[in-house]
Amino acid sequence: MKAVIFDLDGVLVSTDEYHFEAWKQIANEEHIYFDRNINDRLRGVSRMGSLEIILERSRISYSAEEKKALAKRKNGYYISKIKNLTPNDMLPGALISINRLKNAGKLIAIGSSSKNTLLILEKLGIKEYFDAIIDGNQIKKSKPDPEVFLLGAQKLNVEPQQCLVVEDAASGVEAGKSAGMKVLGVGSAKNHPLADYSADSLAGIDILRYI
Ligand code: BG6
Ligand code: MG
Repeated sequence: MKAVIFDLDGVLVSTDEYHFEAWKQIANEEHIYFDRNINDRLRGVSRMGSLEIILERSRISYSAEEKKALAKRKNGYYISKIKNLTPNDMLPGALISINRLKNAGKLIAIGSSSKNTLLILEKLGIKEYFDAIIDGNQIKKSKPDPEVFLLGAQKLNVEPQQCLVVEDAASGVEAGKSAGMKVLGVGSAKNHPLADYSADSLAGIDILRYI
């Protein structure tokens, strides 16, 4: 295999927790039930898609305008949480994995549904490591659609079969498999039945063994 496409939130950086906290704040303000199980369904899903899942528990319905305003409010809370991100917020094993791949001459990319991807990569100081970055601004359909990963392979100029996807989201594992790629499921996706490989996280594994 020639390339690894990393999901961002929950794989390289713990921003998945900030997404949860920001949505929890919205849910509390709107008196909507929300818990960590529901939150797991939001992983890899676009901002508006996530909002729709949260609103399944709402007793009132919201107009398109109101939904837009809610999503904007959530993003405001989220941005204020990620404002102080530093390279220390990278998840254990993330930087080591990136360095191992680069040293072995492999290509690496980001495949994320987040429109805040560039901001996060800049704060972490790792933007320059990546040969391609595909984020929520460049795709029409978010995971589980394979678009983000297929675009990644295209930008890297490799075949999907030559790529390994690393994902913490069920939607992301499905997207990777639909793209025809091998998938390493970590975190909350580590027991996903479609994943080819699984690990608790990037910590303590040698990523080169999977490619
Ligand atoms: C994904 C997260 O990476 O990005 C989702 O796993 C999130 O939880 C999605 O909803 C969209 O993020 P953003 O930053 O564009 O609101
Ligand atoms: Mg993720």
